Amino acid sequence: MSVTRAPRKLYVKSYGCQMNVYDSQRMADVLAREGYVETATPEDADVLVLNTCHIREKAAEKVYSELGRLRVLKQEAARDGRRLTVAVAGCVAQAEGEEIIRRAPVVDLVVGPQSYHRLPDLVARAAVEGRVVDTEFPAEDKFDHLAAPTRAATRSRGAAAFVTVQEGCDKFCTFCVVPYTRGAEFSRPVAKILAEVEDLVAAGVKEIRLIGQNVNAWHGEGPDGGAWTLARLLYRLAEVPGVARLRYTTSHPRDMDDALIAAHRDLPALMPQLHLPVQSGSNRILDAMNRKHDRAEYLRVIERLKTARPDIAMSSDFIVGFPGETEQDFSDTLALVDAVGFASAYSFKYSPRPGTPAADSDDQVSEAEKAERLARLQARIDHHAAAFNAATVGRTTQVLFEGTGRHDGQMTGKSPWMQAVQVMAPPSVKGEIHAVRITGTGTNSLYGALVVANGSAPLRHDGPDHGTTPDPALPGVPDPAVRAASGGH
Ligand code: SAH
Ligand code: SF4
Ligand code: F3S
Repeated sequence: MSVTRAPRKLYVKSYGCQMNVYDSQRMADVLAREGYVETATPEDADVLVLNTCHIREKAAEKVYSELGRLRVLKQEAARDGRRLTVAVAGCVAQAEGEEIIRRAPVVDLVVGPQSYHRLPDLVARAAVEGRVVDTEFPAEDKFDHLAAPTRAATRSRGAAAFVTVQEGCDKFCTFCVVPYTRGAEFSRPVAKILAEVEDLVAAGVKEIRLIGQNVNAWHGEGPDGGAWTLARLLYRLAEVPGVARLRYTTSHPRDMDDALIAAHRDLPALMPQLHLPVQSGSNRILDAMNRKHDRAEYLRVIERLKTARPDIAMSSDFIVGFPGETEQDFSDTLALVDAVGFASAYSFKYSPRPGTPAADSDDQVSEAEKAERLARLQARIDHHAAAFNAATVGRTTQVLFEGTGRHDGQMTGKSPWMQAVQVMAPPSVKGEIHAVRITGTGTNSLYGALVVANGSAPLRHDGPDHGTTPDPALPGVPDPAVRAASGGH
């Protein structure tokens, strides 16, 4: 016999990419409709969801060690007369399905990314029938059935919000599991995205981050019935009152069309920052990866972006030790890093993934070599990141404050270039955009001081975030706001 306790508590732990962060929020929203409230402590949970990532072996294995720890938690709950339902969601769920049930007896429910709208039903079924697996790609659109967050939930999640506009991938890079775990490319229609953005802004969100595995391949249905491009969507979203900042991630170099590059010139709300993974600087490796572009094409895209928006901060992902990668291939990667001067970048050792073509290659690079190349690459990346950050010292820029900072009295926020900035400021700045003068650089963030108008209140900024105000003492970087006003739309 089950005892009804209200409210039931939910704990969701997210691994992997931003798509999972968004999905975790949607899972919380759909279960909130059934009376579940989120808890920050797993010990209190009635339902515990691990939203997993399958991208590299380490990420996938992490799930099993976490499940090992949950066995104890589940036993303790049972001792207290409570039932703890453990669910595995996300990309490991999709990739391994039944195998998870076999390997980890603690798991009650395995749910793939396309079935989250069925979660309330699945949780109820797991309680009655025992262990349940749902990794189908259902015909219905999960987005149509997922609940919208309440205003309170949105506010608690902060001033920058993710909106998934695109899911899945048809590119099939030879190292990557995403086309298998997330399925074919799917674009949400404009009307749905617009409604979601308007709701978020009404709850106080200032920055919208459009997300997708291949976000710039988005081609959703417009109100006219025809397919829109991502550029057109950005122009439309920039018109929504209250949208101060726009970003989109992750993009593929092949899908950076002229209109999208022009949007970086024309839209003051579109932040001067772009994550555009290249993976390798070697044409031979790019070809073997099936990236469908070469090094020169990538550099050309960056050049066009820099023409459109000279202060744009570029970031990338790199894989070292892809099968067959020679020292020459790797030095091509280092040279590309030097040529672009990325503001930041992630780099990973190649991890062979089951079912992907590259995993079967008999030309694997040794672990020692991968580790050695990774260290060299990271040193180059750090060098350029430090130079980029140092170049912003002395400038006055706009910071969107997200929460409390590292030390007492500090608040933390993001610059237009996505740098974390620590500022001595009152807690009331949270969720607001203020002018900040960058005063120095630390290891992972910048330090800044609020710019105070007439010695009284800090400068408040409510319109679109125009990025940096020109600093007469620092020549070189043109003022994006002035450029945007004089050219384009
Ligand atoms: N859709 C994005 C990236 C998705 S995965 C794109 O096209 O770039 C995020 C990053 O994980 C990738 O950019 C890649 O650098 C890394 N990655 C993916 N598969 C990997 C593997 N098998 N081994 C190591 N890194 C991998
Ligand atoms: Fe993976 Fe390539 Fe698709 Fe990116 S574009 S998700 S790396 S297959
Ligand atoms: Fe990982 Fe799946 Fe994202 S494999 S990176 S959680 S799409």
